[in-house]
Amino acid sequence: MVKCGARYILITSRNSSKNRQTIQELEAQGPKVVIKTADLTNKQQIVGIRDYILKTMPPIGGVANGAMVQVNSLFADLDYDVLQELLRSKVGGSVVLDEVFSHDDLDFFLLFSSISALTGQSTQANYAAANNFMIALAFQRRARTFPASVVDFGPIIGLGSIQRYESSGFYDITSVLRSLNYMPISERDLHYLLTEAVLVGKKNKLPEITTGVEAGSSSITFWHKSLLFPHIL
Ligand SMILES: NC(=O)c1ccc[n+]([C@@H]2O[C@H](COP(=O)([O-])OP(=O)(O)OC[C@H]3O[C@@H](n4cnc5c(N)ncnc54)[C@H](OP(=O)(O)O)[C@@H]3O)[C@@H](O)[C@H]2O)c1
Repeated sequence: MVKCGARYILITSRNSSKNRQTIQELEAQGPKVVIKTADLTNKQQIVGIRDYILKTMPPIGGVANGAMVQVNSLFADLDYDVLQELLRSKVGGSVVLDEVFSHDDLDFFLLFSSISALTGQSTQANYAAANNFMIALAFQRRARTFPASVVDFGPIIGLGSIQRYESSGFYDITSVLRSLNYMPISERDLHYLLTEAVLVGKKNKLPEITTGVEAGSSSITFWHKSLLFPHIL
């Protein structure tokens, strides 16, 4: 976004002391980057964030929800609290953003979903449900003539949760995902996908971009049996 001209970026997290180095690297390229402590699911806090932006920055260009709390659990073990923990950031947080920024003339409203929303995953029923809510919200916003886009990402290598798994040394998650015919996404791919998502957000095109499944692979995996994918296999 910075390379494409964004000059004011505000990032929220429940612990804003993280990622200072990334922010310094971004600021070295010119933009003003502010990180605020806020829980996305707390509407009052997000109203306060919007007020802060309106007082200190130019009109709001767009909003993105990349928040996640991932708790993997088999469906049989999925109790109410575990389900709620994951739904909060993706479902509750997206609803808050939809409501709080509904009076702004946005260029984009971007939601981060996962390919798991379409393929399913044995320990990620809660994650799939939360991401499917985001997909539905994107379509519903567009039906209301608001901008919206949603990306069903495949595994993003070298960043975020995958990177944390890798560096924990617990197991080689990239190899596991490759064996399931998920296509890895590089940081550069991620930038292109986000650019594309911003561009489709207001156009007369579907708001959903799906990526991360390996077309034409010879080995068979569970999601190949899904009726969603025969056209790409
Ligand atoms: N990484 C991948 O391979 C991959 C693949 C498919 C989809 N995605 C999607 O991409 C997004 C980012 O993934 P990631 O791997 O970068 O995740 P990540 O490193 O775990 O980052 C998620 C962030 O969400 C923040 N967060 C959680 N709940 C929040 C809340 N209530 N309010 C404010 N912030 C909150 C967390 O910060 P605090 O704990 O400080 O609040 C955390 O920094 C997610 O939506 C994920 O579903 C990622």
